[in-house]
Amino acid sequence: MSKNDGPIKTEFSKMLEIDYPIIAGPMFLVSNEDLVSAVSNNGAIGGAPSLNWRTTELFKAAVQKIKTQTKKPFVVNLIVNKVNPRVDADLDICIEEKVPMVITSLGNPKTIIEKVHSYGGKVFCDVTDMKYAQKVQDLGCDGVIAVCSGAGGHAGPISPLVLVPYLKTKIKVPVVLAGGIATGRQILAGLVLGADAVQIGTRFIATKEAGVSAEYKKAIIDANPEDIVLTKRISGTPAAVIKTQYIEKTGLELGFVEKLLLKNSTTKKYMKLFRAVVGQKALEKAAQTTTWKNVWSAGQGVGLIDEVLPASTVVKNLIHEYWEAKNGI
Ligand SMILES: Cc1cc2nc3c(=O)[nH]c(=O)nc-3n(C[C@H](O)[C@H](O)[C@H](O)COP(=O)(O)O)c2cc1C
Repeated sequence: MSKNDGPIKTEFSKMLEIDYPIIAGPMFLVSNEDLVSAVSNNGAIGGAPSLNWRTTELFKAAVQKIKTQTKKPFVVNLIVNKVNPRVDADLDICIEEKVPMVITSLGNPKTIIEKVHSYGGKVFCDVTDMKYAQKVQDLGCDGVIAVCSGAGGHAGPISPLVLVPYLKTKIKVPVVLAGGIATGRQILAGLVLGADAVQIGTRFIATKEAGVSAEYKKAIIDANPEDIVLTKRISGTPAAVIKTQYIEKTGLELGFVEKLLLKNSTTKKYMKLFRAVVGQKALEKAAQTTTWKNVWSAGQGVGLIDEVLPASTVVKNLIHEYWEAKNGI
């Protein structure tokens, strides 16, 4: 490491006591113990959704394994809505194991904020607009993740060039930019916009550690930003995926009957659950096995990724590129 690859100090990195304000974003089916600990051991902070483990007991074992593999902070993502019946049990594990940072998606994070704060953990909440960001700020979260257009997973609709500075006009807690970042130069751009950190997902799919098939990793390398489309067929809300033959065949919209059932107040809840289960199954199958039904979630950053690397090298490259850009080399 040269002098130029030193720590990047922001409010976020100081709050978490880490060297680099970079979160390896929690990714359904992708993040595992090895990816999380490799990222955290290299000065950034690794994350995983609790639902990546099939039961709360397996999630607990995974957290314990991560703690044996790294002494540095790491992140767990909890999905806070009715589609996730495990949220309370998984939160209890976060409390028991004193998980250093929790990221919440959807729902009302009030209880999570209170309980995680009780042991000194930090809570950041996924947001895509000002209204929800203000709500979670008022509830006492430690920061927000600005999920922007171009992101993998459930991308927000607003460009990072706008969402970050816009949030900064009213949001006083740290803002983390998520969406499209795959290089150190972009991290610098994010910090210039006012972000206190970045959250990176897609770049970490093309790592040695990521728990997905070689085909999925190759698809990340082969894909261009033009290949990323938003489909409602996974969860009912737009999710970014690579436009494979299967995606082209099935289309991006829900069927007429499904749309109707989602509008009806009695059937809405069940349809959401049904869509989530069907979508998850398709993702699961495509992530780990060879199938023609390829549903591979990824963001527009695919255009800047051309190699599968160990996660430690990805972090080192990001830092090196950041300092090169910063020093105008
Ligand atoms: C395959 C995949 C799965 C994801 N799963 C989750 C998840 O379970 N929970 C979550 O909060 N974010 C999830 N995300 C979003 C990431 O944590 C991160 O915010 C996003 O990937 C950032 O955009 P980028 O992919 O352009 O770097 C997922 C993203 C991808 C690509």
